[in-house]
Amino acid sequence: MIIPLTFENKLYSRVIVSAENLNVAFGEQVLLQKASFEILNSQKVAITGLNGTGKTTLLKLILNRESPIKVATKAKFGYFSQKLDILDPKATILENVLKTAIHTETIVRIVLARLLFRNNDVHKLVDVLSGGEQVKVALAKVLLSDINILVLDEPTNYLDIESMEALEDLLKNFEGTVIVVSHDQYFLEKIATRKLEITGKSIHASKINNPIINHKTTSSKPDEKLLLQTKLSEVISKLSFAQSEEERLTWDREYTKLLAQLKELKK
Ligand SMILES: Nc1ncnc2c1ncn2[C@@H]1O[C@H](COP(=O)(O)OP(=O)(O)O)[C@@H](O)[C@H]1O
Ligand SMILES: [Mg+2]
Repeated sequence: MIIPLTFENKLYSRVIVSAENLNVAFGEQVLLQKASFEILNSQKVAITGLNGTGKTTLLKLILNRESPIKVATKAKFGYFSQKLDILDPKATILENVLKTAIHTETIVRIVLARLLFRNNDVHKLVDVLSGGEQVKVALAKVLLSDINILVLDEPTNYLDIESMEALEDLLKNFEGTVIVVSHDQYFLEKIATRKLEITGKSIHASKINNPIINHKTTSSKPDEKLLLQTKLSEVISKLSFAQSEEERLTWDREYTKLLAQLKELKK
């Protein structure tokens, strides 16, 4: 899926988040002892560990830039948590996302359509949506706002398979750094290249072997792919300037067709 989720506020530091000798405890309960880790620019990092080992706590410490954690100065975090408190239940799906979006309404609608909110669906109030649908709105809102680091805590809970695949595509195309906590091993293998595992009050870094990502970068037909991608960008731009519903629908159909061809190519 080629949604150009690029942004102006790209980070140029090599190390985006790091800590040495990090100690975390709640009273007697020690979560981390002399833990160290490093997250590099544009890495897609999975944070794993058993329940209660401190994954959510670690994310919050990073977001709050708690000492001794160091965060790149120009970092702008986008945080998704299951609490979904970033959503206004009395506003529509589209309003919720547009309110903080730095992208055009067309891009916003394409992302929402990819997450299976099509046409008039986007005018539904968040209030009436199912749990899984609200998760998707919150994810779209975070993804399309003015950020360069995505921090996602259990983003796949309540998502159906199709939406999960859409999220995988969106994350792979996100230009910034991604830090994600998930129990879903399959999902993590698809999107992340590094793992930080919390175990024994320490953080252990390792590589995630990712046949899918590797396969994608060694496509056998690079020219055809490039051509389709270029066409797709053109269609996206046509979509944003469409003067009538009819014109919009025409380009929308063209978009779907090109996308299907691209997917076919990737197989
Ligand atoms: N504000 C807090 N005060 C006291 N204990 C807390 C607080 N936040 C988290 N904890 C405890 O720290 C442990 C780790 O929690 P959490 O980071 O949510 O784990 P995980 O996300 O890995 O499941 C849990 O035992 C939790 O009860
Ligand atoms: Mg948690």
